[in-house]
Amino acid sequence: MKTKIAVLVSGGGTNLQALIDAQGSVLTSGEIALVVSNNAGAYALERAKKAGIPTAVVLKKECGSQQAFEEKLKEVLSAHGIGLIVLAGFMTILTADFTACYPQRIINVHPSLIPSFCGEGFYGLRVHQAALDYGVKVTGATVHFVNGIPDGGKIIAQKAVYIADGDTPETLQRRVMEQAEWVLLPQAAEQVSAALQKA
Ligand code: GAR
Repeated sequence: MKTKIAVLVSGGGTNLQALIDAQGSVLTSGEIALVVSNNAGAYALERAKKAGIPTAVVLKKECGSQQAFEEKLKEVLSAHGIGLIVLAGFMTILTADFTACYPQRIINVHPSLIPSFCGEGFYGLRVHQAALDYGVKVTGATVHFVNGIPDGGKIIAQKAVYIADGDTPETLQRRVMEQAEWVLLPQAAEQVSAALQKA
């Protein structure tokens, strides 16, 4: 049986789209069974609906606390029989209590070469701004397992991307997505889904 994947999102969902598009080609050992957002307005939810994938919205504000938010997430994931969680632009940190429930079953895509420009406070365009401020000539993306340390889990895959003269955070973000994230994430999701299928 295919590994049931939940993709957790907060925003535009281009990485979700890359996963959807990879189904049946790169991604064959797993299937996207659920998309969960912590933001009711996320365009990623539209992408899921267009692809016929069930969606759920879990709002921290409505849950009242981080603990209640994570309990609700667990409920939703378990109701859909999820075996692998993919964080694809999920802009909230999950506690060690949550991640410990899914050992080697949560992966995340981060838009830099970890251990550079990562950890708490480094997300989205801020990561690219930090790379440009530092003046590095090469950046990239990393897919890693998620544990209790933000961006601290074992690395699964990385791809380097060159910075160009005149790059802005926006142009760099786009190039890192096109050349690295949208390629690496489906490949990593397949690798982990296949390993879980055999386990
Ligand atoms: C992606 O660049 C992803 O790597 C990053 O947010 C963007 C989401 O875009 N994630 C982080 O910064 C997590 N620390 P998307 O919604 O279009 O996939």
